[in-house]
Amino acid sequence: MQWHRLIAALGLFAPASALLRFGCAGLTVQRLDPLVNPGMKPSTHLHQIIGGDSFNASMPQGTHDLVSRSTCTSCQFTEDFSNYWTAVLFYRAKNGTFKRVPQMAQAGMEGTQGGMVVYYMSDALFDTAQRSDVTAFKPGFRMLVGDSTFRNREQARKWRQLTYICMENQGTRAPESIGFPTRPCPGGIMANHRFPTCWDGRNLDSPNHQDHVAYPESGTFESGGPCPSTHPVRLPQILLETVWDTRAFNDPAGFVGGQQPFVWSNGDSTGYSNHADYLFGWEGDSLQRAMDGHTYVSAPMLTPQSIALQNRCKVPDVVNEDIDSSYQA
Ligand SMILES: *[C@@H]1O[C@H](CO)[C@@H](O)[C@H](O)[C@H]1NC(C)=O
Ligand SMILES: *[C@@H]1O[C@H](CO)[C@@H](O)[C@H](O)[C@H]1NC(C)=O
Repeated sequence: MQWHRLIAALGLFAPASALLRFGCAGLTVQRLDPLVNPGMKPSTHLHQIIGGDSFNASMPQGTHDLVSRSTCTSCQFTEDFSNYWTAVLFYRAKNGTFKRVPQMAQAGMEGTQGGMVVYYMSDALFDTAQRSDVTAFKPGFRMLVGDSTFRNREQARKWRQLTYICMENQGTRAPESIGFPTRPCPGGIMANHRFPTCWDGRNLDSPNHQDHVAYPESGTFESGGPCPSTHPVRLPQILLETVWDTRAFNDPAGFVGGQQPFVWSNGDSTGYSNHADYLFGWEGDSLQRAMDGHTYVSAPMLTPQSIALQNRCKVPDVVNEDIDSSYQA
């Protein structure tokens, strides 16, 4: 990495590139969705949310400034007041009752209550050079990946980068499937959300929260696929990893004949409705500075906080319903 810094310092070559990887504790688990169901209390289904505590049922773009309205963040880096959320996983017992599946902290982040691991990258995860240019998101930027109404493989092909990993142990990262695993997973089920990485360069949002961004025209972000001419600006790839601790629900009787006992909070037992939402909320130019930092995982230009402080950042429960044993009130 040293030569990289030197060349940049000489001004010969200054690629915007880095990879950030950090933990975020759960901020709240509630039926709220300020992107798709703004103002609705409750929204259509339960979500697990991380990030800044300005999170609210309604967060109008243009007037709700996540940075100035937040007093804390559940993420490791104190500059990140963004919000990220996904659906919540439930176990359906044979007798028809439901139990919310707990979330598991990843290795090295033990003690983190709920939440996810977040990545921002310039190139594929395992490319330690991270050479490619990326442009950080702008204030007010938001997007949605996936479709909560999808229930079959044909539909889910559109989002081939939303996947599940049946974990043997904490280190398992392959194979990935686009539907729920159909066998018991000894290390839990990891849900992966890779957001689109090409931006139209103009719109911070779009009516379906998707049309202003796109996946690469060919190949993938990982393979260096080019952005389409309609969406020429290359963004960092955001990857969210959520590990659902299914270990208490691995009775083989639940997995007979291709069945599996898990259901997303939107009622989907196929897994094809995998989806996630993002509201950008990094302070000032901190994300661009971090992406320009030529670092891999470490981020000396950002200010980390302890897991205890991440766990302490919460928002009030404004929906007030049983979130542990019913996936839809
Ligand atoms: C949202 O804002 C209202 C009004 O300021 C506040 O009462 C509420 O606690 C906030 N939080 C959530 C999660 O809705
Ligand atoms: C249903 O099954 C679950 C899991 O086996 C059990 O914990 C629960 O007590 C049962 N509930 C009823 C009402 O039978």
